[in-house]
Amino acid sequence: MDNPEIIVFPTIDKLAEYAAGLLNTVIAETADGEYLTIALSGGSTPKRIFNYISSHDKGKTDWEKVRFFWVDERCVPPDDDESNYKMTRLRLLENIAIPEQNIFRIHGEADPEKEAICYSNIIGGNVPFENNLPRFDLIILGLGEDGHTASIFPGNTVMFQSAKICEVATHPQSGQKRISITGPVINNAREVFFIVTGPNKADIVARILQDSNTGLPASLVKPANGKLTWLLDADAAGKLKSGSL
Ligand code: 6PG
Repeated sequence: MDNPEIIVFPTIDKLAEYAAGLLNTVIAETADGEYLTIALSGGSTPKRIFNYISSHDKGKTDWEKVRFFWVDERCVPPDDDESNYKMTRLRLLENIAIPEQNIFRIHGEADPEKEAICYSNIIGGNVPFENNLPRFDLIILGLGEDGHTASIFPGNTVMFQSAKICEVATHPQSGQKRISITGPVINNAREVFFIVTGPNKADIVARILQDSNTGLPASLVKPANGKLTWLLDADAAGKLKSGSL
């Protein structure tokens, strides 16, 4: 894998504008009858991106070509404020013309172990395989201040050696159960984007991008046959040395 591309934006809105434009471009480049498979992260960072896409859509994007999946989900009902699906539904899905059958949510309300198997089968049946793994066209990742990504937390990097598509993870502080795609699936994607904003992420961004030996989950994201791009706002990039850019 080549070194990641790092793009720094003066504001979150400029980052959102770029991300929305990129998404529109790849959707427009998707041939008729083909699908663009995208795995979304949750948390708070995507909210501004989804709001921007929703408010600038105006019906021009051919969302029928997109299949949305989730990188991870909290094991809560879909109407729970903790639900990544609920956040995405409110901020994006309700505002764009995407067919329901193109939305593949993780059933956070189900038994975690059973849902990890079920969602692995959903991905397996709807995402084309390459290298004996599902190969997403786009995976959008966030970054926790502890260096986690998806729901792969420090100390659980064995998920980067998993033979499974999805596994059950446990949040180290809250004990909340999560369903997460595994490291090999992330590293099999065509394109992986980290989207990180805010001054509270500046330290961890600098660690991940400037220290190759952190052993933290986000450091293990190295798409073997894909492109890795970091989209940062100025605050999150605030502690990067100029040589990193
Ligand atoms: C989740 C996400 C998780 C998130 C990071 C960053 O379910 O919370 O998938 O990996 O991307 O924790 O979260 P923020 O965007 O809220 O900082």
